[in-house]
Amino acid sequence: MNDELAIEVRGLRKRYGDLEAVRGLDFAVRRGEVYGLLGPNGAGKTTTVEILEGYRDRSDGDVTVLGHDPQLRARELRERVGIVLQSTGIYRHLTVREVLAHFAGLYPAPRGVEEVIELVGLGGKEDARTRTLSGGQLRRLDLALALIGDPELIFLDEPTTGFDPAARRGAWDTIRSLKALGKTVVLTTHYLDEAQALADRVAIVKDGRILVEGAPSELGAGDGATRYRVAWRNGSGLLNQRETDDPTSLLHELTSAALERGERLDSLSVTRPTLEDVYLELTADA
Ligand SMILES: Nc1ncnc2c1ncn2[C@@H]1O[C@H](COP(=O)(O)OP(=O)(O)O)[C@@H](O)[C@H]1O
Ligand SMILES: [Mg+2]
Repeated sequence: MNDELAIEVRGLRKRYGDLEAVRGLDFAVRRGEVYGLLGPNGAGKTTTVEILEGYRDRSDGDVTVLGHDPQLRARELRERVGIVLQSTGIYRHLTVREVLAHFAGLYPAPRGVEEVIELVGLGGKEDARTRTLSGGQLRRLDLALALIGDPELIFLDEPTTGFDPAARRGAWDTIRSLKALGKTVVLTTHYLDEAQALADRVAIVKDGRILVEGAPSELGAGDGATRYRVAWRNGSGLLNQRETDDPTSLLHELTSAALERGERLDSLSVTRPTLEDVYLELTADA
């Protein structure tokens, strides 16, 4: 495997009885990248990350994570990976500091407990028993548990579900600081803004397949289907709009006609489809 890659997945499939939840995924995650799996509930995101984490066995395909097959559950791999599961709920009688100190003891070179508490924004809650934490604070504790072993690769399965807006922004800052530390992050989310804000690249997943993959700002809805919106005001100030997959030609046509008439096109703009446009178009049920 290419050393630049943290993860390589080829032809991944997972069946649960009659249901094929993952139907032939191919993707790779580069070291130091934040990679987003974006898709509606039931798309197969959790199944995929749990296979990468070594929590579930695959039905078919090849998976390499930091040079290991996660299904073999090598201790060395476990020590280099941090995980935030979609849901947890443990050690309710222990304090935040106690839980983190306990988990720190499981790793060969953990980060400092106090440092991790600060990093996830739980400062002031060190001595609170976990059962007294709010949903958002528990999720931050989950994140802290993923970071305590100072992993190089971190899996975050819907890390901000249940957060209020301020807590979400806090978690986003934490994830950005992980990237700044050079960590590789795989993030699942059904929030478009989260994928857009955090991911270097996203794969939009639906029904166990990747529909499209790329940088959030560059994703088009498939070949030739990217519809740009061109808007301008005419001489009487009315807004005109046209959609096109070829803005160069349309702008040429519009601007040369306007110049021939000796006019300007006021408020002329070209807008790319947003990630939201692409996502809604791709994941809409036929
Ligand atoms: N342990 C399981 N047994 C049977 N079906 C499952 C199991 N886990 C997930 N599924 C099904 O697989 C599909 C994908 O689920 P999941 O991977 O959790 O998707 P997501 O995380 O994108 O919401 C869903 O239809 C879900 O009901
Ligand atoms: Mg899930």
